[in-house]
Amino acid sequence: MKLEAFQNVLPEVWMNCVLPEARSIVPELPHDCLAVGAWEQERPIGLAIVRRAAGEETAHVVSLVVVEEYRREGVGRRILAGLGNLLKSNGIGILAVEYMASCEESGEVGLFLQAVGFAPPVLGVAVWSGKLALFEEMPWVRRMPLPRGLHVEPWSALTAEQHAYIQSGEENWYPSILSPLMDGSDTDDERSLLLRDGERIVGWMIVEPLDANTIVFKSMFVHASYRRKGRGIALMAESFRRFLHDPTFENGIFFVEGDNADMLAFMRKHLSRPNMREEGMWRTFKRL
Ligand SMILES: CC(C)(COP(=O)(O)OP(=O)(O)OC[C@H]1O[C@@H](n2cnc3c(N)ncnc32)[C@H](O)[C@@H]1OP(=O)(O)O)[C@@H](O)C(=O)NCCC(=O)NCCS
Repeated sequence: MKLEAFQNVLPEVWMNCVLPEARSIVPELPHDCLAVGAWEQERPIGLAIVRRAAGEETAHVVSLVVVEEYRREGVGRRILAGLGNLLKSNGIGILAVEYMASCEESGEVGLFLQAVGFAPPVLGVAVWSGKLALFEEMPWVRRMPLPRGLHVEPWSALTAEQHAYIQSGEENWYPSILSPLMDGSDTDDERSLLLRDGERIVGWMIVEPLDANTIVFKSMFVHASYRRKGRGIALMAESFRRFLHDPTFENGIFFVEGDNADMLAFMRKHLSRPNMREEGMWRTFKRL
């Protein structure tokens, strides 16, 4: 077996060694990408592509494939070892991997990565995806009214003053990862909800279209002092009810941060269904 490194262009013969999600960066590799492939008797048998942003100490694996007939023969291990040496000589100190598996366990890829020296993978984000019509099957969606005194409004009703209030609260009363004011986001202002207690903003459910049929439930936040007695859940139920009466979108995608244990437990209990797809985005790294 011999290894070969590629920059700029990946020859056509390697295409079946590229994960579908990385096909957009081949055959012309972006300037910050590097690939290492393994040959056996003139045949490509495995390939890793990494991306390293200028000035960063970490390179990210964007694709790693060993063709099926050659798996469990140490090819993946050798590609990563060769890649590691090359990166190290280029000043990269950490190799990071993010990959999809079940949201319950880190799977066979996780076992492979740990066998070749990566840290135990941690769940970065759990993702549920399915038809919005599945909300019909969830009794809590209909049963959970908004508590008295709380109101929801479409995000489009947000005033400049409220906008400034939310902006000033970032990393103060809510974590920036749940900010409703992310730059470059394409919030659906009519379907995203603002939760108010009187004049006070106490939460939101932000949704964003992914495509013409799919809406992403992007961030939900309810102020700490309102989290008892299921008020967050009531906000989710209110949002879901509205989608049941809105034929615009057919599918929904829900993201929950892997370290949000309460929300993960809630979603596993109340959203999981045979027809709801559940996946996890796992992260791990290795020092080179
Ligand atoms: C993950 C993948 C690249 C591993 O490549 P590979 O060449 O088969 O791995 P290696 O033979 O080098 O495995 C090294 C060690 O990892 C572990 N390992 C590898 N695959 C494993 C599996 N499916 N289950 C459990 N452990 C595994 C073993 O400890 C193995 O050593 P051993 O065979 O002596 O027991 C390959 O299975 C693959 O291409 N999968 C599909 C694409 C994919 O999921 N890519 C990952 C995206 S980041």
